[in-house]
Amino acid sequence: MKNKELRICMVGAGFVGMKHAAVYSALYNTKMQIACDSNIINATKMAERFRFQKVETDWRKAVSDDNVDIVCICVPNHMHFDIAKEALLAGKYVVCEKPLGMNSKESTTLSLLAKEKGIKTSCCYNLVYTPAIQYIKSIVKNGELGELVCFRGAYDNDRLANPNSAYEWRMNKKISKGGAICDLGLNIIAVSQYLFGDTKCVSAMTSVIHKKRVDNNGNECDVENDDIAQFIFEYKNKGIGYISCNRVAPGSKQDMKFEVQFTEGAIRYSLERMNELHIFRNKNCGYETVISDNNGWFNVGYEDLKGIDAENFLFGISNGEGVEIDFSFATKIDRIIEAVLNASEKKTWIEVSNEKEWKT
Ligand SMILES: NC(=O)c1ccc[n+]([C@@H]2O[C@H](COP(=O)([O-])OP(=O)(O)OC[C@H]3O[C@@H](n4cnc5c(N)ncnc54)[C@H](O)[C@@H]3O)[C@@H](O)[C@H]2O)c1
Repeated sequence: MKNKELRICMVGAGFVGMKHAAVYSALYNTKMQIACDSNIINATKMAERFRFQKVETDWRKAVSDDNVDIVCICVPNHMHFDIAKEALLAGKYVVCEKPLGMNSKESTTLSLLAKEKGIKTSCCYNLVYTPAIQYIKSIVKNGELGELVCFRGAYDNDRLANPNSAYEWRMNKKISKGGAICDLGLNIIAVSQYLFGDTKCVSAMTSVIHKKRVDNNGNECDVENDDIAQFIFEYKNKGIGYISCNRVAPGSKQDMKFEVQFTEGAIRYSLERMNELHIFRNKNCGYETVISDNNGWFNVGYEDLKGIDAENFLFGISNGEGVEIDFSFATKIDRIIEAVLNASEKKTWIEVSNEKEWKT
């Protein structure tokens, strides 16, 4: 597999599809093969901008094309399962935007299928591979701050804070599943999972603040999912946590932050200052600021995260080892989201399902 040219099929040429196309087209040994979008204008725009060989509006034809090696899925959430399944069955490597499935059954099915066929996959949670999070991972691994006591995180954003902002597919349960929890919350859940492992059980609350919005055609629509989601949880190993996310938070841009308290120190992080970490060690008298960078090079920004994800995936394909943030990891995140939405609906504690239950 080393040095083989990898031919890319992008499915979805909206906001995030364009970001993926930009990074994949800049990577060594890639060829932009098919730009696919049901909207021919979007597909053509992407194809022209990133020099794809072909434009396609039917994703089934695109993902089964013999001249494609990697399928990158960047369409609204409810289509991820069908497209990923078809791509895996066609033997393609698959990158899927988050969330992987609309429920944990879908993501479990995909993860087991990928395993069974021995196909490398990747799912996109932006932050996990950032230099700052990698540095925290090394601190957790070497145990220098002791044991985890508490993880407390939030992801707030004001893109939809104005009640007159247009209705979008993200507010429709059948298309998006959750609201803020699926758009924002899962990025921070992924960090918690990556650093501290599985979640055992959750208790949650969700709230819709702006219940009606008008779509771009002038129709008034119901907002069906959470503008705000908050949950407390227990880890399977040591520690407890709290995560909150809000897509209607005035003044918050990419306001993702967390604080981790250990027995012998603490760490604070904010995505709005994404190259900075604040670390407290019991032996010191205050927090020290650590500036992280990308392997000795520059600090990173949002676009770099897509690049780091893509580069890792291509490396994982070429060395045969794959990546840690694959469909199996994504399934764990989807199970937590499912438990959060269930707990909020039933107003009770919910156990997060585990792989064993699905296999039997
Ligand atoms: N990780 C991140 O930073 C990040 C950021 C934004 C979105 N996302 C995820 O990416 C996905 C797409 O989000 P977006 O913001 O780019 O949405 P978007 O609405 O901007 O774009 C979606 C695109 O999919 C196309 N599409 C719809 N139905 C299709 C079909 N049947 N076949 C082919 N194309 C079809 C649309 O025409 C559109 O061009 C979502 O799953 C979202 O959760 C991730």
